[in-house]
Amino acid sequence: TVPVAVLASGTGSLLTALLDAAEADSAAFDVVAVAVDRDCRAAELAAQRGIAVITCRLGDYPDRGAWDRALTEQTAAFAPEWVATAGFMKILGPAFLDRFAGRVVNSHPALLPAFPGAHGVADALAYGVKVTGTTVHLVDGGVDTGPILAQTPVAVEPDDTEETLHERIKQVERVLLTDVVTALATRGVVTDGRKAQIP
Ligand code: GAR
Repeated sequence: TVPVAVLASGTGSLLTALLDAAEADSAAFDVVAVAVDRDCRAAELAAQRGIAVITCRLGDYPDRGAWDRALTEQTAAFAPEWVATAGFMKILGPAFLDRFAGRVVNSHPALLPAFPGAHGVADALAYGVKVTGTTVHLVDGGVDTGPILAQTPVAVEPDDTEETLHERIKQVERVLLTDVVTALATRGVVTDGRKAQIP
C-alpha cells in the first residue's frame, strides 16, 4: 500500500473516512501519520487508532518559516508518497510545498474557483448560489488555487444554515476525498499546465 500523511485541524470526519478506507482489506493506501496544528478531535481520533500524531503549533515556533520547516521535517520522517489536507486550517509554507511538490491534495467545501479560503460554505450561502459542493485539488502556493482533480455538486436548500449545508457537503467530501486519494495511490496524476488528470 502507498503511504499517505493526513493534515487536519478539526473534528476529523474527513480523516475518519480516510482511516476507514485505509483499514479495508483492499486498501490502496495506508495512513502513516496525522499532523495537526492544534489540539483537536482529529488528533484524538488518530491516536485512538494507533496512528502516529505530529503536533506542530505555529505558536511554538519563532516564526512561520520555522514552523513550516518543522512540519516538513516531521512529516517527511514518515516518508509519505501523498499528503492529504483534510480540514487543515493553516496555509502550507514553501518548505512543505517544495518537499512534497505536486503530491499534496486538499479538500475544499465549495466548487472552486468560487469561494476559496477559510469560509467557503458561509461565503457561498451569503452569495445566494443555488448549487455549491466540494473540490479536491492539488495544492500550490496560493489559497485553494491548485489544479482541480475532482468536484461534486451539492444543491443549496432554501432553509439551509451554514451548519446544515456544511454537513451535506461533508457527506460528499468524505466520499470524494477517499476516492481521489485511492485513485492517486493507484494511478498517480498527470499535469498539463494548470490542468491535472488522474489517468
Ligand atoms: C471540511 O469541510 C473541509 O473541506 C474544510 O473543513 C472541514 C473539515 O471537516 N476545510 C477547509 O475549510 C479548509 N479551508 P472535519 O474536521 O469534520 O474533517
